[in-house]
Amino acid sequence: MVNEVKKSEKEIHDSIMSLIKEWHEVKFSKKDFKPGETYVNYSGRVFDEKELLNLIDSSLEFWLTGGKYDNEFCEGLSKYLGVKHALTVNSGSSANLLAFSALTAPELDRINKRIIPGDEFITVAASFPTTVNPAIQFGLTPVFLDIELGTYNIDINKLEEAISEKTKLIMIAHTLGNPFNIDEVMKVAKKHNLWVIEDTCDALGSTYDGKLCGTIGDIGTLSFYPAHQITMGEGGAVVTNNSILKMYLNSFRDWGRDCWCPSGKDNTCGKRFGWELGSLPPGYDHKYIYSHIGYNLKITDMQAAIGLAQLDKLESFISARKRNHKAIYDALKPFENFLILHEATKKSDPCWFGFMIYVKPEAPFSKQDFVLYLEENKIATRNLFAGNILRQPAYAALKHRIVGDLKNTDLTMNNAFWVGVYPGIDDNRRNYMIDHLVKFCKKHIT
Ligand SMILES: Cc1ncc(COP(=O)(O)O)c(C=O)c1O
Repeated sequence: MVNEVKKSEKEIHDSIMSLIKEWHEVKFSKKDFKPGETYVNYSGRVFDEKELLNLIDSSLEFWLTGGKYDNEFCEGLSKYLGVKHALTVNSGSSANLLAFSALTAPELDRINKRIIPGDEFITVAASFPTTVNPAIQFGLTPVFLDIELGTYNIDINKLEEAISEKTKLIMIAHTLGNPFNIDEVMKVAKKHNLWVIEDTCDALGSTYDGKLCGTIGDIGTLSFYPAHQITMGEGGAVVTNNSILKMYLNSFRDWGRDCWCPSGKDNTCGKRFGWELGSLPPGYDHKYIYSHIGYNLKITDMQAAIGLAQLDKLESFISARKRNHKAIYDALKPFENFLILHEATKKSDPCWFGFMIYVKPEAPFSKQDFVLYLEENKIATRNLFAGNILRQPAYAALKHRIVGDLKNTDLTMNNAFWVGVYPGIDDNRRNYMIDHLVKFCKKHIT
């Protein structure tokens, strides 16, 4: 009889990992670009074997819910951003929901800053839906401001005028990675005792006056959907330096519970059966005491495992995005008579999400002509968010206020589009895209 030698855990793990490396090589390493055949996407996952190895390692551990990879990811993210707290969630939309919900915590009555239905919040109409949806669903009235052409960020001159005695919050995104004037926003917020949520879903790595976006307001939100600076497939995070808000964020994310034990741990507070809260019986298990009306917005450790490998690549991703944006900018500069190019907000250094191209009304071609030409040539184009969100069917009956007008928002919706700058756009793809951008403009102006 053959004497079977059982392999150790480590041996099996090592051989799976070496197979994964082989798999990555065979399945993903070829990045051939065939001009006119390969689609130049606006964004996408950029990864190597490390993401796959982490994902498989995490799945073999089979912890499933947030665990060691989640902890490491949160530590790495807070270190990179220089913030006290980072909590992962299952999407950027969930990050916005969570950030907003934390500001509705009843405890905030104590400092007269609790958000309640009927309050107002200030935002822009050129918005991603889930930047504004949480506050709308909670019963707040949105107050919409216009944007500037070129930066596509809030027209800051109207901010002060938008404030009423009901205003509690300013919640806007750093559009396509381009920081809005956060210094002015913070100045106004401080003066009027308002909360600021920075939707940084498109702007991880962008700075305003040397400060990283997402870390300046009360709470910053991030998305790790594949289109974004780093990805987990689906995922997001909230970041804050406010340790009180962090407690509410934790609670709202984890079903609204009062207990702060991480998954798989009990009695972190040391008095699990010693609490007396609400009108519950004394000693009711703290794990089942709910101090907020919350959700479950957590991620799995497998998502965090992918995110951790991505975090190591963030600096190189940021450089690639900046490089691609600059190359498109330089190539289109001669056509400024007909185009408004994508400009960084003053004092900012954006980690760009895309390159916005605005076709001026006097141009001998329309946005639609440009978009169709690019798409026919397999170059992906996208619109800015929802355009003027008030023109979307879902928002038609929405109670709102507009301060000033939304002229630039409408102009942007009608005349602007964007193309990709993500790190997957290598030299060949970038040169191909730029050749076509230039070719199209030249064809129409000579
Ligand atoms: C500005 C902004 N906020 C929020 C989100 C939502 O992120 P997610 O798709 O992860 O829910 C997006 C998505 O692209 C976004 O661009």
